[in-house]
Amino acid sequence: MAILYNEERKTITIQTANTTYQMRIAPHGFLQHTYYGKHVNGEDMSYLILNYDRACSGNPDEVYPSRNISFDTMPQEYPGYGVGDFRIRPIAVRNADGSRGADFRYVKHEITKGKYKLEGLPSSYDSKGDAETLTVTIKDHVSGLTIDLLYGIFPDEDVITRAVRIRNEGDSTAVLTRTLSMSLDIPYGKWDMIHFHGKHALERQTERESLGHLIKTVGSTRGTSSHQENPFVIIADHKADEDHGACYGMMLVYSGGFKMQAEVDQFDSLRLVMGLQDEQFGWKLEPGSVFTSPEVIMTFSDEGFTKLSHTYHWFIRHNINRGKYQFARRPILINNWEATYFDFTDEKLLAIADEAADLGIEMLVLDDGWFGDRNSDNAGLGDWYVNEDKIKCGLTSLVEQVNAKGLKFGIWIEPEMINEDSDLYRKHPGWALKMPGRRPNRTRNQLVLDMTRPEVVDYLYERVEDILGNNNIEYVKWDMNRSLSDVYSAALPTDRQGEVLHRYMLGVYDLMERITTNFPDVLVEGCSGGGARFDAGILCYSPQIWCSDDTDPIHRLNIQYGTSFGYPVSTMGAHVSASPNHQTGRSTSIHTRGVVAMSGTFGYELDPGKLSEEDKAEIREQIGIFKKYYDLIQNGLYYRLTEIKEDYFEAWQFASADKSEALLNVVVTNTQPNPTLINLKLKGLDPDAVYEMINETGKHGFESKYVSQAERVVKTTFTGETLMNAGYTLPWAFGDYPALQIYFRKIK
Ligand code: DGJ
Repeated sequence: MAILYNEERKTITIQTANTTYQMRIAPHGFLQHTYYGKHVNGEDMSYLILNYDRACSGNPDEVYPSRNISFDTMPQEYPGYGVGDFRIRPIAVRNADGSRGADFRYVKHEITKGKYKLEGLPSSYDSKGDAETLTVTIKDHVSGLTIDLLYGIFPDEDVITRAVRIRNEGDSTAVLTRTLSMSLDIPYGKWDMIHFHGKHALERQTERESLGHLIKTVGSTRGTSSHQENPFVIIADHKADEDHGACYGMMLVYSGGFKMQAEVDQFDSLRLVMGLQDEQFGWKLEPGSVFTSPEVIMTFSDEGFTKLSHTYHWFIRHNINRGKYQFARRPILINNWEATYFDFTDEKLLAIADEAADLGIEMLVLDDGWFGDRNSDNAGLGDWYVNEDKIKCGLTSLVEQVNAKGLKFGIWIEPEMINEDSDLYRKHPGWALKMPGRRPNRTRNQLVLDMTRPEVVDYLYERVEDILGNNNIEYVKWDMNRSLSDVYSAALPTDRQGEVLHRYMLGVYDLMERITTNFPDVLVEGCSGGGARFDAGILCYSPQIWCSDDTDPIHRLNIQYGTSFGYPVSTMGAHVSASPNHQTGRSTSIHTRGVVAMSGTFGYELDPGKLSEEDKAEIREQIGIFKKYYDLIQNGLYYRLTEIKEDYFEAWQFASADKSEALLNVVVTNTQPNPTLINLKLKGLDPDAVYEMINETGKHGFESKYVSQAERVVKTTFTGETLMNAGYTLPWAFGDYPALQIYFRKIK
């Protein structure tokens, strides 16, 4: 059993392989949080909570006249609202009488086998049959507001998930104005927060900030998890690094707006909360009704970030991703977006398919522009019927012709959007989100469909079903290209408009669920103007997500680096595009572009007809290399070997779980004259084994003509211990963005 209840001490202890989490039902029904961290034996940890009379920290009625116990200083599992805890809180509520308060007391708890599910929301699942659920019920006895605190325990994975179900057991309607999924008090320590901020075409940049006495907020109010922040943070001990130190991860399984806050209080205790965005939020909870929050995936590592990342990588692959392509080999694709943008015909696509087949590419993806009156991004969204001016042969014939060349066929859709210049809008202007009396804000000249309306979801499902059901389409790129403004549904009453943002996401998930259930063999790649919805919610439906609209390999290094803290490379859509790059104008070799894109799902996004014969030969070679190392890259352990502040080169590595092979990758981002040599210490090898080194990808800018190699001791076999402790020193790098891949194979 991973969850243990001690009747005498009134403690509930959650044990995973390497961590312990504990709460205690204290006198008066206070649900105290006593510990979360490195594994301890399960004794009552409430000795860590010392109660003192703290001036100006009010005391609950039950303990009067004692001044020693205060909500404001007590570590709690899920603090109340407006009753004496002045720190950040997970819940806020407007009661029917106008009061704004909720004071929760323990009612009961239940331990069950298996992992809870969340109504209408994606969440993690039990893949091995050893997960358990702890449900702790707390209640505000005045209003009747009752909360089931849900904990999903994955013992071997060192993961604890959290969510809440809020029930109105009172007899009047309450309005929830904040419903976060979790609160966590960490009473001691000095902490940093690592978060992943960005913008369109430069997502998930890594920032580490020390947590002081200000409340820090990471979040999105955009209706998407967003380019600007990711719903994942690491709380790290000041001294923690890749291999050492305590750190906590919090990842929200949700694709809409979110809020994560961290507060260091007056006594230097840290409180963390995470869940739905509360701006523009108000959920009317009638008597008997239930509100369910999205899930947070938590883990703790006492061995730094690498271990924490490995936990998330494993968990996303085994307990979030699902369906045929969870582990199956994904096809190497070519996408026509950067090859043609909107300017294509069936003939042009078939010419790309011919060239792609010749290079060894396995799937053609037809991107935006194939439907309705879509010749630019100003029209056509919503009209999911093939544009026969461009695809003269029709979609079915095009798919058949591409298949006949030995390629699978994939297609782009952006179901949640509508252009005013579309037949759908002309017929149903009320299906777009708009506020009464206001002209709606536009991004890319498009409006957002009201996904709270079941008839909208039904229409979209019917269109997608028609397209996928009548054609041999094996992949869908599901795009979503704007933030939500003018959030108002003509279908909901005035007092439910605060529910629109969350109901929108419930509609999106409903559509995703129906499509992935009824077309289980279709590989869905998530996308949102690049990576604005790179989150664990989307990953429940799509095992891969387009990482960014920036395909410049040098920027991609940082984007993929930041992404790697929470998400495995098997989720990162990455393509080799043209040089000079379309977003930055930077020129890089096809080799360097290949090395970077290979640390992702790997594909191409260029016109192969415009490539030189040398580049084509290189592409054939890199496809061979990618296929050869596919398992190592996609299933191996990923190690970051450099820190983001490094401005000279970036290096990362894969090692197989059995330590029999490793692949080292390096890109020099700022070549130096007379350079400092690059020495890299490998990770994850067997110290006693002997490894043979194979540099399969050639020199590519290393071993330049300016360097004599005559005096060099050439060594090609090493023990694991040598590679990990002394490292490997790369030859002198020269030229623009040289890149290297070195393979190590255990020979004894
Ligand atoms: C944004 C995506 O990120 C691109 O890859 C491309 O699909 C365009 N949308 C098409 O409109």
